[in-house]
Amino acid sequence: MRVQVVIIGAGPAGLLLGQLLHRAGIDTLILERKSQEYVLGRIRAGVLEQGAVDLLDEAGVGARLHAEGLAHEGIELCFSGERHRVDLQALTGKHVTVYGQTEVTRDLMDARTASGAKSLYEVDDVALAGFDGNTPTVRYLHQGRVHEVSCDFIAGCDGFHGVSRDSVPAQALRQYERVYPFGWLGVLADVPPVSDELIYANHERGFALCSMRSHTRSRYYVQCSLDDHVDQWSDERFWQELRSRVDSEAAERLITGPSIEKSIAPLRSFVAEPMRFGRLFLAGDAAHIVPPTGAKGLNLAASDVRYLSRALIDHYRTGTSTEIDAYSDKCLRRVWKAVRFSWWMTSLLHRFPDNGEIGRKIQEAELSYIIGSRAASTSLAENYVGLPFED
Ligand code: APR
Ligand code: PHB
Repeated sequence: MRVQVVIIGAGPAGLLLGQLLHRAGIDTLILERKSQEYVLGRIRAGVLEQGAVDLLDEAGVGARLHAEGLAHEGIELCFSGERHRVDLQALTGKHVTVYGQTEVTRDLMDARTASGAKSLYEVDDVALAGFDGNTPTVRYLHQGRVHEVSCDFIAGCDGFHGVSRDSVPAQALRQYERVYPFGWLGVLADVPPVSDELIYANHERGFALCSMRSHTRSRYYVQCSLDDHVDQWSDERFWQELRSRVDSEAAERLITGPSIEKSIAPLRSFVAEPMRFGRLFLAGDAAHIVPPTGAKGLNLAASDVRYLSRALIDHYRTGTSTEIDAYSDKCLRRVWKAVRFSWWMTSLLHRFPDNGEIGRKIQEAELSYIIGSRAASTSLAENYVGLPFED
């Protein structure tokens, strides 16, 4: 079998790339290790920059997002029980859209099915070869049989634990990593959100985030120890802890209910450079991870896909490789800025076990600077709504 582009991974990066290439008449095959249901079961952040929304529109999957997504024109920072609003719209002229990653993935899967383009789920033993030359191939096991597909390009959209990055010779790759000394315990519940906007809280007991998926479904997080296990966190304990970390108005308004999902996620900053090796491109979590504090994970995946889809479409139309050659550097300039912002938001809002009283005082000064300075709050806001793309 032969296709123009093999895409490894049917997360948002792989599916969005597949859709954009398909609409440009480029033939793709998506290979995904898990089942469709499993992929849809993963709960992740739900804040979209306008650039990501525009790209989903370009991919023809924006209808439900526009009907059901919530426009948020500000966020709230809560320090020591007091809330301070950052007016994203007034500071940048832009807003963000709250729409769950699960829904983005579902819309993309539906569009892929409707397009008739081929995706294979529950594929094992994916192995990449020949991407340093002109004839890349991908082998895989599907329904008990080994298959091999040849292609022009491979897009490694297979997340942090995927096979694509690991297929690159170690000496060709530079990896940067920071693991944070805490995790996020997240709860999804069918209760109305405590506030119209997201609340990011820095409290002496640790960070908390009040987010949402809709007017009737909330997503809440509390900073927890990396040694914690979800079984130690009954719903009751979670709600009590969340209530203790937010301001008194939010604590009073908080409506609790049974959790429909509860999980602990570690926090990590990670970048692999470069993002292209011959005819293999890495995109999304396969190349970089950010802590969720700035809600940048999905947005960065979309921004890689924007550059990659344009580069490949340009290549097939013109036969040139200028855009392909520029892919890695263009992505990485934006990636590093989001890595910086996510690290900075994380540093501002969490309790770090080793930072002590001076760390706390510096956080307070930082907050006071953000609230008191239009330049500082604009810096936060312009990063939160998403920095511009090149070209
Ligand atoms: N073969 C085939 N598929 C694989 C393999 C493999 N060896 N390894 C991993 N995969 C699949 C995973 O099962 C997953 O469905 O690749 C997909 C990668 O999807 P994501 O992890 O969602 O990564 P990405 O598409 O880059 O999306 C980035 O996800 O983690 C969040 O914050 C992040 O929101 C961002 C988004
Ligand atoms: C979420 O809704 O899951 C969410 C929102 C904002 C973040 C992180 C997660 O910064």
